[in-house]
Amino acid sequence: MEKLKPTFWVRDVPVYGDVILSPMAGYSDVPYRAICRAFGSAMQYTEFVPVEMLLGRPNPIWRALDKQPDEYPMVFQIFGNDAHLILRAAQKIEAWGPDIIDINMGCSTRRVSGRGAGVGMMPQPELVAQTFSLLSQHLRVPVSGKIRLGWDERQNYLEIGRIMADNGASLIALHGRTKEQKYDGQANWQAIARLKQAVNIPVIGSGDVTTPDDIEQMKAETGCDGVMVGRGAIGNPWIFARRNCEDLTAEEWADTIRWHGQEMVAYHGEKVGMTLFRKHLKKYVAGRPHLAPYEPQLMQITQMIHLNHLLDEMVTTNPKSFSGKL
Ligand SMILES: Cc1cc2nc3c(=O)[nH]c(=O)nc-3n(C[C@H](O)[C@H](O)[C@H](O)COP(=O)(O)O)c2cc1C
Repeated sequence: MEKLKPTFWVRDVPVYGDVILSPMAGYSDVPYRAICRAFGSAMQYTEFVPVEMLLGRPNPIWRALDKQPDEYPMVFQIFGNDAHLILRAAQKIEAWGPDIIDINMGCSTRRVSGRGAGVGMMPQPELVAQTFSLLSQHLRVPVSGKIRLGWDERQNYLEIGRIMADNGASLIALHGRTKEQKYDGQANWQAIARLKQAVNIPVIGSGDVTTPDDIEQMKAETGCDGVMVGRGAIGNPWIFARRNCEDLTAEEWADTIRWHGQEMVAYHGEKVGMTLFRKHLKKYVAGRPHLAPYEPQLMQITQMIHLNHLLDEMVTTNPKSFSGKL
């Protein structure tokens, strides 16, 4: 049998594939990662977890770093504003089995960036250097970071990227917006191309990829090693199989939602799982106007059996509306 060739390496960790589910707080849990991985997502990122919570007593936030045996490569993402605390937390969670530890330097919320964590690290090049130098010296697993273009229009992603690479980082993911832009405007893919040229470690591009064509376009325009899909993957895990969701049959659509629902129940329990599933359901029906009448019921769902009935009804009463373009 022919041996599979990795698409790229994160130091000594092979990555097979070029499309990756973005870390997303509130979405990148065990169930959704399982669905996206099955469709082809090539890396498994957790949502970001504050180092202070990891160093304290066991608490429910630790569950964000749960990992299933078949998840590979598994990336645990953490954030903080103190290199020594970040190192202590990273050393602690290294024992929990990640393949890579990632530092979030992209979160733009005031609560995080305002105290110098998340994208708040980007105006502090010395802190970035110290953090990556400490982590790469003291951890066995490779270390990566996810950044933005910078804090404001004085974009310093090239400087930060070089500092990361010079201090032992093995991978950089870049979301092509500044902190001040939050999620406004269009992501700058040219910047991803510039970063790729500037460093000799793999670069993952992030921002505004919502279709299979976008994946190819970002790769062609930037030369990046991998493409992250965030918001465009919510309600659309088929993108990892490079499928347009308007090309699905009604059964394919419903089967995936059923499966996702079952994973939610298995991991979170029925009550919590179904409640958390509502935000996904909202996106699964978005852009399908003929399903809009079902939304109020979906937003109150508490039981898998009820979800199954609703899906059956949606498929049998609207089979035609699913095939072809909506
Ligand atoms: C709801 C939500 C939660 C997010 N949480 C995280 C996070 O925990 N860690 C992180 O690095 N980025 C996080 N991001 C940023 C995404 O990973 C991604 O870089 C950004 O959304 C741009 O990509 P997109 O246009 O494909 O969504 C989050 C984004 C959203 C919309």
